[in-house]
Amino acid sequence: MAEPWAIWGRAIHAPDAVDVLPRALITVDAAGTIISVEPYVLENDAKLRGFSDSGHLITLAADQVLLPGLVDLHVHAPQFPQLGTALDLPLEEWLQAHTFPLESRYEDVAFAESVYTRLVETLLAHGTTTALYFATIHLPATQRLAEICLARGQRGLVGRVGMDHPEQCPDYYRDASAESAIADTRALIDFIRTMPGNENGLVRPVITPRFVPACTDALLEGFGLLAHETGAHVQTHCSESDWEHEHVRARCGCTDAEALDRAGLLGRRSVLAHGNFIEPEDVARIRARGAAVAHCPLSNVYFAGAVFPLRAMLAEGLHIGLGTDIAGGASASLFEAARQAVASSRLLERGTDPTLPPERRGVPNSRIDFRTAFRLATAGGGEALDLPVGLFRPGYAFDTILLQSGLPDGNVAFGPDENGDTILQRIVMGAGRGDIARVWVAGRLVRSR
Ligand code: GUN
Ligand code: FE
Repeated sequence: MAEPWAIWGRAIHAPDAVDVLPRALITVDAAGTIISVEPYVLENDAKLRGFSDSGHLITLAADQVLLPGLVDLHVHAPQFPQLGTALDLPLEEWLQAHTFPLESRYEDVAFAESVYTRLVETLLAHGTTTALYFATIHLPATQRLAEICLARGQRGLVGRVGMDHPEQCPDYYRDASAESAIADTRALIDFIRTMPGNENGLVRPVITPRFVPACTDALLEGFGLLAHETGAHVQTHCSESDWEHEHVRARCGCTDAEALDRAGLLGRRSVLAHGNFIEPEDVARIRARGAAVAHCPLSNVYFAGAVFPLRAMLAEGLHIGLGTDIAGGASASLFEAARQAVASSRLLERGTDPTLPPERRGVPNSRIDFRTAFRLATAGGGEALDLPVGLFRPGYAFDTILLQSGLPDGNVAFGPDENGDTILQRIVMGAGRGDIARVWVAGRLVRSR
């Protein structure tokens, strides 16, 4: 719409604690930015009539609720074809046996185009309005992913993967040199920032060293300089598994976080996937730099060998959001990741080994609830990326999902008289793509049923 418009109905978001806006009036400008949010507007209010008379009002029914769009902080776009398969090996073997062979196929741009189109559609259907993507080492295919995000209207942060270490990366799938990896990454940054139609920065480039083991020191340092020069986001994996954490210690004589920091790769716009084994000095370092952790509870079950101490890390003041980690995580749904975040935290709190006495089985005060999981999936993701998304707040993008009770292929039903907190609980603990009736990104309706 070329003029401001408004939407009126029940909305729930989590600025800090969960905040239910029972009859919210949200006004949106032509660029898709929220102008105003009023939590309680009655139906005879003159403000509503102004918008409805000009045909610029969307009115929600009692069985509908708005939530901020979901922010997925960790997606391997090229791994989508192996979703739900091949999780029988530890990380370092899984990469070599399954993942690098699959990722190497994206030299074929037509193959990339078909997978990436299906992935972006699927994630939008699941309510993911913002996704932070790892692509592959291939510049043309990665450019296609950026174009597909822009065309489909998804807020996409897209990274061409850098991986040049001859000991960890196979001959058939490796950057030829640190210099060529840096040059291709610079080319991607320029390409995305000048894509026609991307003037508002809906799609953004991300400097993406795969993880310390896959990168030479020269590549890490070159990427650090590029991050400083361009101000682009940075993403990588950090201290994901015992093997990974120890490998970096042996090679660099320090932790992942310290190695990344030495290279200049820890900043306010850096997102570290996993962080399961970060140590107290790492926590202080990550907090001081304002970097974020993408908590990926679905893949952590398979690869980590431990549960990320989410509640403790939130108490430490880190920026944290959620990632599906497709395809180390076997679901494209960030609601599924939210549920696993709750479940994993409960397992950490109470423990897992029934032969131990209950008082020695777990880590007390580790649980999070559905409210915290919801916050991580929305506002937490926005904070992690340093982008104005994930909240209904003036100046934020209208990136929003509409959930509807009792859809034919939905999981969730809620009554018009149930309170917002109970409705949110039903949604976080149960919702799937079948419950999502509409999706907007930057005010544009990108999906509707
Ligand atoms: N570490 C390095 N590459 C990967 C990857 O593709 N997936 C996960 N989960 N961890 C990684
Ligand atoms: Fe990953």
